[in-house]
Amino acid sequence: MITAPKLRIEGYVIVSAEGCLADSNGVMPDVLKFKGDQQFFEGALDRAALIVHGRNSFEDQPNSPKRKRLWVTRHVAGLAPDPTNDNALLWNPAGASFEHACQAIGIGDGAAAIIGGPSVFEMFLDRFDIFWLSQAPHVNLPGGQPCFPGVPERSPQQILSDHGLIARETIELDAANEVSVTAWQRG
Ligand SMILES: NC(=O)c1ccc[n+]([C@@H]2O[C@H](COP(=O)([O-])OP(=O)(O)OC[C@H]3O[C@@H](n4cnc5c(N)ncnc54)[C@H](OP(=O)(O)O)[C@@H]3O)[C@@H](O)[C@H]2O)c1
Repeated sequence: MITAPKLRIEGYVIVSAEGCLADSNGVMPDVLKFKGDQQFFEGALDRAALIVHGRNSFEDQPNSPKRKRLWVTRHVAGLAPDPTNDNALLWNPAGASFEHACQAIGIGDGAAAIIGGPSVFEMFLDRFDIFWLSQAPHVNLPGGQPCFPGVPERSPQQILSDHGLIARETIELDAANEVSVTAWQRG
């Protein structure tokens, strides 16, 4: 059970028309990268107290080395230092709670930004305070990797709604390509 009462849990993803976050090779293609969305994402991560992601979802931004992060992996039993990064811990949710991981890395309040991939998003679907869903409606990724387990049988929006999140504001990020981000908030 994930409990961290003072942390605000936030999700971030950009998806194609089919709700995919990566192409059929499991790679996020350049066609899914838009300056407006990347600036929005980078600004949000600069404000976050903690970043959480799986092995292939490192954000690789200029400030990345300064950020506290939990690197989700099955290669440790619970929690372990990241030998390559003093600001990171390796975390296996099967062996340590999210609260324990936050305590271990010294983060008790502020925002925890969950940035993927799909199975990491899934772990937090019942816990997100807000999920920022960016959409690129003119990008098609046939056979691509769905952003959440359960897509495409259900849309990303339906899955967020099924987990108690409600669409609030939508912000335009790239007018020419009709890319926007919608804030899905709990209750
Ligand atoms: N469009 C977007 O906004 C966006 C966002 C995020 C990611 N992406 C892209 O989507 C792709 C995601 O890659 P991915 O599917 O490989 O996901 P990923 O979560 O980045 O990486 C999967 C790995 O993370 C670890 N992991 C994930 N869930 C875990 C769990 N529940 N327990 C323990 N470990 C877990 C495992 O690492 P170990 O093998 O170390 O055990 C697993 O092999 C990448 O191409 C990325 O660039 C795009």
